[in-house]
Amino acid sequence: MSVPRSVITGVGSYLPKKIVTNDDLSKIVDTSDEWIVERSGIRQRHMVEDGEKTSDLALAAAKAALANAGVDAQDIDLIIMATTTPDNTFPATATTIQAELGIHHGAAFDLQAVCSGFVFGLSTADNFLKAGQFKNALVIGAETFSRLLDFEDRTTCVLFGDGAGAVVLQAQEGEGTIEDRGVLTAHLHSDGRHKEKLYVDGGPSSTQSVGHVRMIGRDVFRHAVVNIADVINEALVATNLTIDDIDWFVPHQANKRILDGTAKRIGLPPEKVVMTVGEHGNTSAASVPLALSVAVADGRIKRGDLVLLEAMGGGFTWGSALVRW
Ligand code: UT7
Repeated sequence: MSVPRSVITGVGSYLPKKIVTNDDLSKIVDTSDEWIVERSGIRQRHMVEDGEKTSDLALAAAKAALANAGVDAQDIDLIIMATTTPDNTFPATATTIQAELGIHHGAAFDLQAVCSGFVFGLSTADNFLKAGQFKNALVIGAETFSRLLDFEDRTTCVLFGDGAGAVVLQAQEGEGTIEDRGVLTAHLHSDGRHKEKLYVDGGPSSTQSVGHVRMIGRDVFRHAVVNIADVINEALVATNLTIDDIDWFVPHQANKRILDGTAKRIGLPPEKVVMTVGEHGNTSAASVPLALSVAVADGRIKRGDLVLLEAMGGGFTWGSALVRW
Protein backbone atom coordinates (compact mmCIF):
# COMPACT_ATOMS: atom_id res chain seq x y z
CA MET A 1 0.00 0.00 0.00
CA SER A 2 1.39 3.39 -0.98
CA VAL A 3 1.32 6.03 1.78
CA PRO A 4 2.67 9.60 1.89
CA ARG A 5 5.84 10.01 3.96
CA SER A 6 7.87 13.10 4.89
CA VAL A 7 11.52 12.20 4.36
CA ILE A 8 14.40 14.20 5.82
CA THR A 9 16.71 14.61 2.82
CA GLY A 10 19.13 17.15 4.26
CA VAL A 11 20.29 18.68 7.53
CA GLY A 12 22.46 21.69 8.31
CA SER A 13 23.44 23.89 11.21
CA TYR A 14 25.22 27.05 12.20
CA LEU A 15 26.83 28.26 15.42
CA PRO A 16 27.93 31.83 16.12
CA LYS A 17 31.71 32.21 16.23
CA LYS A 18 31.96 33.49 19.81
CA ILE A 19 32.50 30.75 22.42
CA VAL A 20 31.74 31.47 26.07
CA THR A 21 33.33 29.03 28.53
CA ASN A 22 32.23 28.31 32.09
CA ASP A 23 35.31 30.17 33.30
CA ASP A 24 34.21 33.21 31.28
CA LEU A 25 30.83 33.13 33.07
CA SER A 26 32.44 32.67 36.48
CA LYS A 27 33.95 36.15 35.98
CA ILE A 28 30.48 37.76 35.84
CA VAL A 29 28.34 35.59 38.18
CA ASP A 30 29.04 33.58 41.31
CA THR A 31 29.54 30.19 39.66
CA SER A 32 32.31 27.77 38.72
CA ASP A 33 33.26 25.41 35.92
CA GLU A 34 33.04 22.58 38.45
CA TRP A 35 29.41 23.37 39.45
CA ILE A 36 28.19 23.84 35.87
CA VAL A 37 29.84 20.65 34.57
CA GLU A 38 28.69 18.56 37.52
CA ARG A 39 25.04 19.79 37.46
CA SER A 40 24.51 20.13 33.71
CA GLY A 41 27.42 18.65 31.71
CA ILE A 42 27.83 22.01 29.94
CA ARG A 43 31.44 23.12 29.29
CA GLN A 44 30.88 25.94 26.82
CA ARG A 45 28.22 27.55 24.63
CA HIS A 46 28.24 29.77 21.55
CA MET A 47 26.77 33.27 21.79
CA VAL A 48 25.98 35.96 19.24
CA GLU A 49 27.86 39.24 19.09
CA ASP A 50 26.16 42.64 18.97
CA GLY A 51 24.05 42.95 15.83
CA GLU A 52 23.96 39.21 15.08
CA LYS A 53 20.32 38.12 14.72
CA THR A 54 18.36 34.87 14.89
CA SER A 55 17.66 35.15 11.15
CA ASP A 56 21.42 35.29 10.44
CA LEU A 57 21.94 31.95 12.19
CA ALA A 58 18.77 30.45 10.70
CA LEU A 59 19.65 31.47 7.15
CA ALA A 60 23.11 29.89 7.38
CA ALA A 61 21.59 26.65 8.75
CA ALA A 62 18.87 26.65 6.08
CA LYS A 63 21.41 27.08 3.26
CA ALA A 64 23.52 24.25 4.69
CA ALA A 65 20.46 21.96 4.86
CA LEU A 66 19.46 22.78 1.27
CA ALA A 67 23.02 22.05 0.08
CA ASN A 68 23.09 18.80 2.05
CA ALA A 69 19.77 17.75 0.48
CA GLY A 70 20.81 18.89 -2.99
CA VAL A 71 17.52 20.81 -3.19
CA ASP A 72 17.10 24.19 -4.87
CA ALA A 73 15.56 26.87 -2.64
CA GLN A 74 12.91 27.44 -5.34
CA ASP A 75 11.55 23.94 -4.65
CA ILE A 76 10.72 24.85 -1.04
CA ASP A 77 7.04 25.73 -0.58
CA LEU A 78 6.81 25.67 3.23
CA ILE A 79 9.11 27.20 5.87
CA ILE A 80 8.43 26.57 9.53
CA MET A 81 10.75 28.38 11.87
CA ALA A 82 10.71 27.28 15.51
CA THR A 83 12.02 30.09 17.67
CA THR A 84 11.48 31.89 20.96
CA THR A 85 13.79 34.71 19.95
CA PRO A 86 12.42 36.15 16.69
CA ASP A 87 14.16 39.16 15.12
CA ASN A 88 11.00 41.21 15.70
CA THR A 89 7.69 40.60 17.44
CA PHE A 90 6.33 40.49 13.90
CA PRO A 91 6.56 39.65 11.06
CA ALA A 92 7.52 36.01 11.50
CA THR A 93 11.27 35.55 11.14
CA ALA A 94 10.42 32.70 8.73
CA THR A 95 9.36 35.35 6.20
CA THR A 96 12.82 36.96 6.43
CA ILE A 97 14.39 33.57 5.68
CA GLN A 98 11.96 33.10 2.79
CA ALA A 99 12.91 36.50 1.32
CA GLU A 100 16.66 35.94 1.84
CA LEU A 101 16.38 32.63 0.00
CA GLY A 102 14.57 34.40 -2.86
CA ILE A 103 11.38 32.37 -2.41
CA HIS A 104 8.17 34.22 -3.31
CA HIS A 105 5.68 31.37 -3.23
CA GLY A 106 4.27 29.00 -0.62
CA ALA A 107 3.97 29.78 3.09
CA ALA A 108 6.38 30.70 5.88
CA PHE A 109 5.56 31.10 9.54
CA ASP A 110 7.08 30.92 13.02
CA LEU A 111 6.10 28.36 15.60
CA GLN A 112 6.45 28.88 19.35
CA ALA A 113 6.89 25.85 21.58
CA VAL A 114 10.19 26.96 23.16
CA CYS A 115 12.61 24.03 23.52
CA SER A 116 10.09 21.62 21.93
CA GLY A 117 9.74 23.91 18.91
CA PHE A 118 11.70 21.81 16.44
CA VAL A 119 9.81 18.59 17.24
CA PHE A 120 6.50 20.52 17.05
CA GLY A 121 7.64 22.06 13.74
CA LEU A 122 8.70 18.73 12.30
CA SER A 123 5.35 17.17 13.17
CA THR A 124 3.44 20.18 11.77
CA ALA A 125 5.36 20.05 8.49
CA ASP A 126 4.91 16.26 8.34
CA ASN A 127 1.13 16.69 8.56
CA PHE A 128 1.08 19.39 5.85
CA LEU A 129 3.16 17.17 3.55
CA LYS A 130 1.11 14.06 4.24
CA ALA A 131 -2.08 16.04 3.54
CA GLY A 132 -0.64 17.02 0.14
CA GLN A 133 -0.82 20.77 0.84
CA PHE A 134 2.94 21.31 0.36
CA LYS A 135 5.72 19.23 -1.19
CA ASN A 136 9.07 20.42 0.22
CA ALA A 137 9.50 21.97 3.65
CA LEU A 138 12.32 23.65 5.49
CA VAL A 139 11.98 23.15 9.22
CA ILE A 140 14.32 25.38 11.18
CA GLY A 141 15.09 25.66 14.88
CA ALA A 142 17.04 28.84 15.61
CA GLU A 143 17.68 30.87 18.74
CA THR A 144 19.64 33.77 20.12
CA PHE A 145 18.63 32.68 23.61
CA SER A 146 21.43 34.75 25.15
CA ARG A 147 19.23 37.79 24.41
CA LEU A 148 16.74 36.51 27.02
CA LEU A 149 19.26 35.79 29.75
CA ASP A 150 19.66 37.72 32.96
CA PHE A 151 23.43 37.65 33.45
CA GLU A 152 22.93 38.36 37.14
CA ASP A 153 20.90 35.13 37.61
CA ARG A 154 23.38 32.28 37.95
CA THR A 155 20.60 29.67 38.04
CA THR A 156 19.72 30.31 34.37
CA CYS A 157 22.47 32.22 32.55
CA VAL A 158 24.96 29.35 32.66
CA LEU A 159 22.62 26.88 30.93
CA PHE A 160 21.73 28.35 27.55
CA GLY A 161 23.43 29.13 24.26
CA ASP A 162 22.73 30.30 20.70
CA GLY A 163 22.64 28.40 17.41
CA ALA A 164 20.53 27.10 14.55
CA GLY A 165 19.73 23.83 12.82
CA ALA A 166 17.50 23.00 9.87
CA VAL A 167 16.20 20.05 7.90
CA VAL A 168 14.70 19.68 4.44
CA LEU A 169 11.58 17.53 4.55
CA GLN A 170 10.26 16.14 1.26
CA ALA A 171 6.97 14.42 0.46
CA GLN A 172 7.63 10.93 -0.93
CA GLU A 173 5.64 7.75 -1.31
CA GLY A 174 6.29 4.92 1.15
CA GLU A 175 5.06 1.35 1.49
CA GLY A 176 3.31 2.02 4.77
CA THR A 177 5.73 -0.12 6.80
CA ILE A 178 8.23 0.84 9.48
CA GLU A 179 10.97 0.19 6.91
CA ASP A 180 9.85 3.36 5.06
CA ARG A 181 12.14 6.37 5.14
CA GLY A 182 10.70 9.47 6.80
CA VAL A 183 8.73 10.50 9.86
CA LEU A 184 7.09 7.27 11.07
CA THR A 185 5.24 8.79 14.01
CA ALA A 186 5.15 11.97 16.10
CA HIS A 187 3.55 12.75 19.46
CA LEU A 188 3.01 16.23 20.92
CA HIS A 189 1.81 17.38 24.33
CA SER A 190 1.31 20.59 26.30
CA ASP A 191 0.18 21.29 29.84
CA GLY A 192 -0.23 25.00 30.58
CA ARG A 193 -0.64 24.44 34.31
CA HIS A 194 3.16 24.48 34.52
CA LYS A 195 3.79 27.76 32.74
CA GLU A 196 5.18 29.47 35.86
CA LYS A 197 7.99 26.91 36.17
CA LEU A 198 9.78 28.06 33.01
CA TYR A 199 8.89 31.34 31.34
CA VAL A 200 10.05 34.79 30.29
CA ASP A 201 8.92 37.66 32.52
CA GLY A 202 8.07 39.99 29.66
CA GLY A 203 6.23 40.29 26.37
CA PRO A 204 4.38 42.73 24.11
CA SER A 205 0.96 42.49 25.76
CA SER A 206 2.10 42.25 29.38
CA THR A 207 5.17 44.44 29.93
CA GLN A 208 5.86 45.82 26.44
CA SER A 209 9.41 44.52 26.93
CA VAL A 210 11.32 41.37 26.00
CA GLY A 211 11.95 40.08 29.52
CA HIS A 212 14.29 37.45 30.96
CA VAL A 213 14.13 33.67 31.39
CA ARG A 214 12.95 32.50 34.80
CA MET A 215 13.02 28.85 35.82
CA ILE A 216 12.41 26.61 38.78
CA GLY A 217 15.08 24.21 37.59
CA ARG A 218 14.39 21.39 40.02
CA ASP A 219 10.69 21.20 39.04
CA VAL A 220 11.51 21.28 35.35
CA PHE A 221 14.07 18.54 35.82
CA ARG A 222 11.60 16.27 37.62
CA HIS A 223 8.90 16.68 34.99
CA ALA A 224 11.38 16.34 32.13
CA VAL A 225 12.56 12.81 32.93
CA VAL A 226 9.00 11.49 33.40
CA ASN A 227 7.38 13.28 30.43
CA ILE A 228 10.19 12.46 28.04
CA ALA A 229 10.18 8.76 28.94
CA ASP A 230 6.36 8.66 28.51
CA VAL A 231 6.33 10.36 25.12
CA ILE A 232 9.12 8.08 23.86
CA ASN A 233 7.07 5.11 24.94
CA GLU A 234 4.09 6.48 22.98
CA ALA A 235 6.21 6.55 19.82
CA LEU A 236 7.35 2.95 20.35
CA VAL A 237 3.81 1.71 21.05
CA ALA A 238 2.45 3.53 17.97
CA THR A 239 5.01 1.83 15.71
CA ASN A 240 5.11 -1.52 17.46
CA LEU A 241 8.86 -1.12 17.96
CA THR A 242 11.03 -1.65 21.02
CA ILE A 243 13.86 0.44 22.38
CA ASP A 244 16.34 -2.11 20.95
CA ASP A 245 15.20 -1.14 17.43
CA ILE A 246 16.43 2.43 17.91
CA ASP A 247 19.79 3.18 16.27
CA TRP A 248 20.24 6.75 17.55
CA PHE A 249 18.63 8.82 20.25
CA VAL A 250 18.84 12.56 19.48
CA PRO A 251 17.27 14.35 22.44
CA HIS A 252 16.80 18.00 23.29
CA GLN A 253 20.08 19.01 24.90
CA ALA A 254 19.07 20.63 28.21
CA ASN A 255 21.16 18.82 30.78
CA LYS A 256 23.46 15.76 30.64
CA ARG A 257 21.86 14.44 33.83
CA ILE A 258 18.39 14.54 32.22
CA LEU A 259 19.71 12.70 29.15
CA ASP A 260 21.53 10.08 31.25
CA GLY A 261 18.43 9.65 33.43
CA THR A 262 16.12 9.31 30.42
CA ALA A 263 18.40 6.83 28.61
CA LYS A 264 18.56 4.71 31.76
CA ARG A 265 14.80 4.86 32.31
CA ILE A 266 14.00 3.76 28.73
CA GLY A 267 16.82 1.18 28.62
CA LEU A 268 18.94 2.77 25.91
CA PRO A 269 22.75 2.24 26.05
CA PRO A 270 24.72 5.51 26.42
CA GLU A 271 26.64 4.94 23.15
CA LYS A 272 23.37 5.42 21.20
CA VAL A 273 22.75 8.87 22.71
CA VAL A 274 23.90 11.87 20.64
CA MET A 275 25.12 14.37 23.23
CA THR A 276 26.13 17.91 22.30
CA VAL A 277 25.07 19.73 25.46
CA GLY A 278 28.69 19.95 26.63
CA GLU A 279 29.70 22.06 23.62
CA HIS A 280 26.44 23.89 22.79
CA GLY A 281 24.60 24.28 26.11
CA ASN A 282 20.81 24.39 25.83
CA THR A 283 20.00 26.09 22.52
CA SER A 284 16.22 25.65 22.93
CA ALA A 285 14.52 24.99 19.55
CA ALA A 286 17.90 24.70 17.82
CA SER A 287 19.26 21.90 19.98
CA VAL A 288 17.72 18.85 18.25
CA PRO A 289 18.57 19.85 14.64
CA LEU A 290 22.04 20.97 15.80
CA ALA A 291 22.66 17.57 17.39
CA LEU A 292 21.24 15.81 14.31
CA SER A 293 23.55 17.80 12.09
CA VAL A 294 26.60 16.86 14.18
CA ALA A 295 25.76 13.14 14.16
CA VAL A 296 25.08 13.11 10.41
CA ALA A 297 28.26 15.04 9.62
CA ASP A 298 30.47 12.74 11.70
CA GLY A 299 28.97 9.67 10.04
CA ARG A 300 27.09 8.22 13.01
CA ILE A 301 23.58 8.60 11.54
CA LYS A 302 23.37 6.81 8.19
CA ARG A 303 20.61 6.25 5.66
CA GLY A 304 18.16 3.64 6.92
CA ASP A 305 18.91 4.24 10.61
CA LEU A 306 16.01 4.60 13.01
CA VAL A 307 16.38 7.91 14.85
CA LEU A 308 14.41 8.86 17.94
CA LEU A 309 13.94 12.58 18.63
CA GLU A 310 12.44 14.18 21.72
CA ALA A 311 12.17 17.54 23.41
CA MET A 312 10.63 19.21 26.42
CA GLY A 313 10.33 22.88 27.26
CA GLY A 314 8.39 25.80 28.71
CA GLY A 315 4.61 25.57 28.85
CA PHE A 316 5.22 22.73 29.51
CA THR A 317 5.44 21.37 25.99
CA TRP A 318 6.97 18.03 25.05
CA GLY A 319 7.06 15.66 22.13
CA SER A 320 8.78 12.82 20.30
CA ALA A 321 9.26 11.73 16.72
CA LEU A 322 10.60 8.53 15.19
CA VAL A 323 12.34 9.02 11.88
CA ARG A 324 13.82 6.51 9.45
CA TRP A 325 16.84 8.36 8.04
O1 UT7 B 1 15.09 23.05 28.05
C1 UT7 B 1 14.22 22.64 29.05
C2 UT7 B 1 14.36 23.46 30.22
N1 UT7 B 1 15.47 23.31 31.08
C3 UT7 B 1 15.77 22.19 31.74
O2 UT7 B 1 15.41 21.10 31.43
C4 UT7 B 1 16.60 22.40 32.97
C5 UT7 B 1 16.13 21.52 34.09
N2 UT7 B 1 16.83 21.70 35.33
C6 UT7 B 1 18.16 21.52 35.49
O3 UT7 B 1 18.86 21.21 34.55
C7 UT7 B 1 18.74 21.62 36.88
O4 UT7 B 1 17.69 21.73 37.82
C8 UT7 B 1 19.72 22.81 37.05
C9 UT7 B 1 21.00 22.54 36.27
C10 UT7 B 1 19.06 24.08 36.55
C11 UT7 B 1 20.10 22.99 38.51
O5 UT7 B 1 20.60 21.80 39.06
P1 UT7 B 1 20.06 21.28 40.47
O6 UT7 B 1 20.89 20.11 40.81
O7 UT7 B 1 18.58 21.10 40.35
O8 UT7 B 1 20.46 22.49 41.43
P2 UT7 B 1 19.50 23.36 42.38
O9 UT7 B 1 18.65 24.26 41.56
O10 UT7 B 1 18.83 22.44 43.33
O11 UT7 B 1 20.58 24.23 43.12
C12 UT7 B 1 21.54 23.64 44.03
C13 UT7 B 1 22.41 24.74 44.61
C14 UT7 B 1 21.62 25.92 45.16
O12 UT7 B 1 22.29 26.36 46.32
P3 UT7 B 1 21.70 25.99 47.79
O13 UT7 B 1 20.31 26.59 47.81
O14 UT7 B 1 21.71 24.50 47.85
O15 UT7 B 1 22.66 26.67 48.68
C15 UT7 B 1 21.77 26.97 44.11
O16 UT7 B 1 21.69 28.29 44.61
O17 UT7 B 1 23.25 25.29 43.57
C16 UT7 B 1 23.15 26.71 43.58
N3 UT7 B 1 23.35 27.18 42.22
C17 UT7 B 1 24.56 27.46 41.70
N4 UT7 B 1 25.80 27.39 42.22
C18 UT7 B 1 26.82 27.73 41.41
C19 UT7 B 1 22.40 27.40 41.26
N5 UT7 B 1 22.98 27.81 40.13
C20 UT7 B 1 24.31 27.85 40.37
C21 UT7 B 1 25.43 28.19 39.59
N6 UT7 B 1 26.65 28.09 40.14
N7 UT7 B 1 25.32 28.56 38.30
